[in-house]
Amino acid sequence: HQAPQARLNTPEMWKAYLKPRSPWGHKGSYGHLLVVGGSRGMLGAAALSGMAGLRAGAGLVTVAVPEQQEQAIAAKLTEALVWGWPGTDGFFTASGSQVLGERADRLSAVAVGPGVGRFAGETEWLKEILVRSPFPMVLDADALNILSEDPSMLHIRQHPTVLTPHPGEMARLAGCTVQEVEQNRHRIPREWAQFYGVTVVLKGTHTVIAMSDGRQVVNPTGSPALAKGGSGDILTGILGALLARKIPVHAAVPMGVYIHGLAGERAVSDSAHSVLATEVIDQIGPAIHQIS
Ligand code: APR
Ligand code: MG
Repeated sequence: HQAPQARLNTPEMWKAYLKPRSPWGHKGSYGHLLVVGGSRGMLGAAALSGMAGLRAGAGLVTVAVPEQQEQAIAAKLTEALVWGWPGTDGFFTASGSQVLGERADRLSAVAVGPGVGRFAGETEWLKEILVRSPFPMVLDADALNILSEDPSMLHIRQHPTVLTPHPGEMARLAGCTVQEVEQNRHRIPREWAQFYGVTVVLKGTHTVIAMSDGRQVVNPTGSPALAKGGSGDILTGILGALLARKIPVHAAVPMGVYIHGLAGERAVSDSAHSVLATEVIDQIGPAIHQIS
């Protein structure tokens, strides 16, 4: 397994995908990422993913939140488009994801999860998104918890699908304990990736990436500064943007995880204790520059 692992995780290989923006490019050339999340009390999660997606180069980012949250997210995000989805009391409603059908042809990737929350009818809601998204998808946070109710719905997917669980979310998905996940950080994501035909990013100090074809890699970058709420939401936005930019999933995922860790390292000026998620987002550009 050594050779393919080394080949997967070489920043040299990613340069081809990180070429300077073409003078002839326009926003349509760099993809349109949809971020779905931001329920009441968790608006910041969707905002962080959206901003990270813009910093990672997406041409357009739309953030879809429950309709009661629309004004609040619009005030927070100057550069993103916002889209109010059917919601009740600041939470998504069961039938809400059908609206995706109307606009799916204008999107190039979707990231579901940051601040999605839990709500009645959530399983049908997620299944609808899986069906109506004929492009790459990132599933994170509560989208993974919803998925754990019926992981077989992943078989619906006909396009690249990336799961970004932390050990607690991986344990819920796999139906085991967090301790078992930590003791099997390679085996569990590998089995999942192969069985469901997805890419699994098991996060942590040494994030493990498992591809559906059995390839696996451990990410070398990162910082304890990332041990703070919001860090995972940033990774979700970065991965969504790279996928929206049509970078193949086998390159986009290790590259995105690497950039996220490097941004975390770079955000530390004095004390790692004090780094804010927004400061990590500010380092996405410098991190991309460093490896391009
Ligand atoms: N070293 C390197 N990387 C780290 C470290 C560390 N010591 N600590 C955290 N990270 C990285 C992880 O690898 C991951 O990429 O920071 C990110 C943390 O992601 P999450 O665990 O998903 O945290 P976050 O999303 O910010 O938590 C907010 O979302 O997933 C839910 O249950 C979660 O309620 C929580 C919320
Ligand atoms: Mg998280």
